[in-house]
Amino acid sequence: MAKNSSILREYWSGKSVLITGASSGLGWALTEALAPYGVTFGLLSRREEKMQELADSLKHTDSTFWIRGCDIRDREAVFAAVNDFHEHAGRIDVAWANSGISAPSSFKKWDWELIDACLKTNLYGTMHTVKACLNHMVPRKQGTIVGIGSMASVRGLPTRGVYSLTKISIQYLLESLSAELPFIQFTTIHPGFVDTPIIASNKNAFWVVPADRAADLMLHAVARKKAVYIFPFRMRMLYHIIRLLPQKLFTGGMRKFFRRAEKPELSETEKQAITSTN
Ligand SMILES: NC(=O)c1ccc[n+]([C@@H]2O[C@H](COP(=O)([O-])OP(=O)(O)OC[C@H]3O[C@@H](n4cnc5c(N)ncnc54)[C@H](OP(=O)(O)O)[C@@H]3O)[C@@H](O)[C@H]2O)c1
Repeated sequence: MAKNSSILREYWSGKSVLITGASSGLGWALTEALAPYGVTFGLLSRREEKMQELADSLKHTDSTFWIRGCDIRDREAVFAAVNDFHEHAGRIDVAWANSGISAPSSFKKWDWELIDACLKTNLYGTMHTVKACLNHMVPRKQGTIVGIGSMASVRGLPTRGVYSLTKISIQYLLESLSAELPFIQFTTIHPGFVDTPIIASNKNAFWVVPADRAADLMLHAVARKKAVYIFPFRMRMLYHIIRLLPQKLFTGGMRKFFRRAEKPELSETEKQAITSTN
């Protein structure tokens, strides 16, 4: 069980929690971290067998697991899954809209199929989950919605424009709903780099946080009812600094970074040419 668990116990014990993207990474780590608190889980993602593997590994805990293979891009499937989970659990206390994918979107590598999948998963998938769960929470005037943004939402990052926009839009969506529904808790979390499959091929990742540590930080942030939470601490500081940079300074810095990242590897002939002239 996580350190400093009294806050966690008070907030999470006996809750009914729906998590999307529980088959991997952050969703998996969250489920593991919450399992000691006797939670009624509703786990959603496409890979049912992975979620079953996770539930089997947590059989010894007081929690129970309801699992549904579901593509969150499919609105009808999400609404049906959420309604079925609600019927099973009797209520939904927390909805954790975590499913997401990354997609590069530079001018040179513009892949419509991938971009479409990114918008539909991150943006529509989150909206489907949030709206379907709010339908059950609002009549009770009670519940918590957690949306997963990203450090990449800080501003428009080179080659990550589409991913950045899906992630900042999650914060805007929850912020907007929180004005209308003051009795619901809305928390947007912007993780820095967490050691999960989504960053496996990212050579620029830094200050990488282990997934179990990330789960612990996020569960505390929700229990403390934060509206927006950025982690780790160093990333939070960097996020606020970058947000404050005047446009010219930000764009200049990003252009330098982009040119460096884009610098082509020298071909063998070019390397030989340099060696022979030296
Ligand atoms: N790791 C990081 O450094 C980092 C940083 C910032 C933000 N994030 C965000 O954190 C969230 C979780 O990512 P992760 O790091 O845990 O990556 P991950 O290990 O790749 O997990 C992504 C999860 O999303 C689910 N998913 C993807 N497409 C889906 C779809 N169409 N329908 C249902 N579920 C879908 C996947 O499940 P199936 O494949 O089984 O469907 C998987 O469980 C994402 O929103 C990501 O953008 C991660």
